[in-house]
Amino acid sequence: MNLDEVIKNTIIQNQAPIGFDEFMQLALYYPKLGYYRSGAEKFGQRGDFVTAPETSDLFGFCLARQCAQVLKKTDDLLEFGAGSGVLAAQILFELGRLDCLPRHYYILELSAELRHRQQQTIAKALPELLPRVVWLDQLPQAFNGVVIANEVLDAMPAKRIIQQDNAFYELGGGMRQASFDWQVKEVLNQQTTPNCPPLMGEGYTTELNPQAMAWVNSLYGALDSALVLLIDYGMQRSEYFHPQRVEGTLRCYYQHQASDNPFVNIGKQDITTSVNFSDIADQATDSGFKIAGYATQALFLIALGIDEYLLDEVDADKRISLAQQIKQLVLPSAMGESFKVLALSKKTEVKLIGFKEQELSYKL
Ligand SMILES: C[S@@+](CC[C@H](N)C(=O)[O-])C[C@H]1O[C@@H](n2cnc3c(N)ncnc32)[C@H](O)[C@@H]1O
Repeated sequence: MNLDEVIKNTIIQNQAPIGFDEFMQLALYYPKLGYYRSGAEKFGQRGDFVTAPETSDLFGFCLARQCAQVLKKTDDLLEFGAGSGVLAAQILFELGRLDCLPRHYYILELSAELRHRQQQTIAKALPELLPRVVWLDQLPQAFNGVVIANEVLDAMPAKRIIQQDNAFYELGGGMRQASFDWQVKEVLNQQTTPNCPPLMGEGYTTELNPQAMAWVNSLYGALDSALVLLIDYGMQRSEYFHPQRVEGTLRCYYQHQASDNPFVNIGKQDITTSVNFSDIADQATDSGFKIAGYATQALFLIALGIDEYLLDEVDADKRISLAQQIKQLVLPSAMGESFKVLALSKKTEVKLIGFKEQELSYKL
């Protein structure tokens, strides 16, 4: 059976459209066939999109500097959704240079295929550090250290909602003449869905991500003391539910082409929604976290001295290449402002150097 048939059968068995979150779960994570579970190349020029660690080693080096500020000798690092493994290799390399290696570098990865890729990447780049890297199948217990999730929240299945007749309704994936199509499911109850936006106008469409919020809550329970760094494209609530953002934030990526149609190339294209950082921060504080910082990726990397790597480079050609990479990471027209860093802490009170240039948590 192919993935289209799996989803069609699920809709038929349900005798009604399935929620978009369920559709996204199947399209991205169905065993062996879902986008993140299949063997196809996803990251980099030969894949569908390029993430910050795929753009430049300097991204991971700067994150390592932030980790080093809080890591103690007995601490561990935990990365969620580690992609090709390149970020883990960058962070471990730089932490080694800073003489601040964690006891273990845990990776929690849903995809067996990506796990294998990560093992290969780290074995090639840092064979001597491979024994410190441990792959987990579930959240650890009483974790101490630093948690990193780069572009993970945006890959969590989201609900899509639409305003009709002065109420918000959940949108689902249904069938129309053997093709997938958007269909309206049930009306949303403001009491059971308190993070719904206010009424914005007929047809206004947007997303909610209760799964991401539930993940933050369970993460809190898995930690003893930790700093959590969540890096992703997204914005605070006032921008997320902006009156002019009438089509929401859903995007699909196939061979570097963006579209808003999740019903084509199923299992071959990435499906994402931007992160509503206010919802994540509210859930985090409700769970017990403290907000330790919120900034654009640009100002976070600048605070961590990304330009120093450029100044230290003696080779002129390499300096040109590094300058181009830095532009991609920090320019507002590239990743600099659309990506944000949200830091959460549990029993860790440190003034983080990554937020010394900018601290925007008052906007959340
Ligand atoms: C866009 S990729 C980002 C990969 C990598 N972090 C990078 O920056 O290159 C999203 C990743 O998040 C992972 N993911 C999504 N939900 C997850 C969860 N609940 N736990 C762990 N990983 C998750 C996916 O499997 C996928 O590997």
